[in-house]
Amino acid sequence: MSRIAYVNGQYLLHSEAAVHIEDRGYQFADGVYEVFALHRGQMVGEKGHMERLTHSLNELRIDWPISRRALAIIIREVARRNRVKDGLVYLQITRGVARRDHPFPKDCESSLVVTARQLPPLDKEALRQGVGVITIPDIRWKRHDIKSVSLLPNILGKQQAREAGAYEAWMVSEDGMVTEGTSTNAWIVTKSGQLVTHNVSHAILNGITRLSVLEAATGAGLSFEERPFSVAEAMEAKEAFVTSSTSHVKAVTSIDGESVGNGHVGELTGQLLDLYVDFIEAKGGPANTSIWN
Ligand code: PDD
Repeated sequence: MSRIAYVNGQYLLHSEAAVHIEDRGYQFADGVYEVFALHRGQMVGEKGHMERLTHSLNELRIDWPISRRALAIIIREVARRNRVKDGLVYLQITRGVARRDHPFPKDCESSLVVTARQLPPLDKEALRQGVGVITIPDIRWKRHDIKSVSLLPNILGKQQAREAGAYEAWMVSEDGMVTEGTSTNAWIVTKSGQLVTHNVSHAILNGITRLSVLEAATGAGLSFEERPFSVAEAMEAKEAFVTSSTSHVKAVTSIDGESVGNGHVGELTGQLLDLYVDFIEAKGGPANTSIWN
């Protein structure tokens, strides 16, 4: 079966789909993106992704290429045409095509690309296999709340992690606090058993998975703290894990080569994975998505 991509109004063969060489996304990383997970044929956290996309576009003053309703239809259509039941939909909107010049061009229509990719179905056993993270300086710009396609520090960090045999790199601010992973949010369970993840600010991308986990935890009567944590606190933590649309809730069992807790997947991490899966299957995604307004 051929893969199909949506590009500016057309469904094209993925292998032949292309954008113009003067697309500002290509030249300036002047664009935003979203990654939607599909779980058993259902979109996960669609409302949250759409709200976050709206926030990203507003902050960068990029116009919607089409209506939000039309976009929702296209996302489903791309998933359907690619027969993706478990996997992801990738969506990218850039400011559009114009002669290369830094200021916003006049009369420029934003570009929209949507693709979909099959991934192995969510596998709790695989997610319970702990992975390692390394810590690296957070060298990004100061607006991590915007899901910009400008990802150089993230890809360099991820590559560094892979070369160190680790799954993810946790980025550390100048004051020694872990902000987030290169493509995931970072979590710990402290020595005293408190679940902690960075608070919403310009320092992190507010993950839709993060929001689902927080809502699922609340529903189960579990408490949590949204605040920054230091590398030292993470090193002493009982448990750690990362979340994202494609990593779900993934246990972290080592940080910079040192075991987290007893080096095995933590009890609360395992419980949160179960709660998360139940939550997205029952609710589809977080209800509380008004935080970007
Ligand atoms: N990454 N932080 C960063 C920097 C991210 O890039 C992502 C998502 C997250 C988690 O967000 P969510 O739970 O909404 O997926 C946090 C996507 C998956 C990516 O770039 O592929």
